[in-house]
Amino acid sequence: MKKSLICCGILKNELKYVMQEIREKTDFEVDYLDAAARKEVKELATITEDMKALVSSGRCLLATAGKEGRPNIGPKGSVVVLDDSTLAYGELTGKQSYKNVQDNPLVSIAVVDYDKFTGYRFSGTVEIETSGELYELFAARFAEMKLPRPAAAVKVKVEEIHDLSAANPGGKIA
Ligand SMILES: Cc1cc2nc3c(=O)[nH]c(=O)nc-3n(C[C@H](O)[C@H](O)[C@H](O)COP(=O)(O)O)c2cc1C
Repeated sequence: MKKSLICCGILKNELKYVMQEIREKTDFEVDYLDAAARKEVKELATITEDMKALVSSGRCLLATAGKEGRPNIGPKGSVVVLDDSTLAYGELTGKQSYKNVQDNPLVSIAVVDYDKFTGYRFSGTVEIETSGELYELFAARFAEMKLPRPAAAVKVKVEEIHDLSAANPGGKIA
């Protein structure tokens, strides 16, 4: 597999020569990313094992906001950790929170342990899937609970994680 190098910086003309040299002297594929494109590439945060355990408690709350910015919050017991930077839930009712994520993909998910006074808030951008492997996974889980097929599987690509614990309230972890 060819290695890839992305160059960023305001001095594009100067970078051009460096990039050319790297291309000639190494086997890197070299690309330039301008400011507009850089804004599109959101860095993802890492969900630790400790956070994953808390998410698996099934006590996540999803916060969304629609076009007008009116906040909405509700439990999503189906939240799972898909990988180190992705959460996902099955959308059951297709009501307000679903409308909101279609209008505005920015969401937060909070999970807390009231006994230990700890918790995390995961903020990110959703990706909605109405068919496919993940959708069928939630459909199977809902069927086991005698629930209807989900309106969608909703992935949350996590960009920021905040600590909600009493020890470090609101501290940005990632
Ligand atoms: C314990 C619990 C878990 C829930 N889990 C989910 C879930 O995983 N997915 C979902 O779509 N709705 C779930 N719901 C229902 C939603 O929280 C909510 O009632 C529904 O989505 C309608 O709210 P909305 O109009 O704000 O979307 C759950 C409700 C409870 C009480």
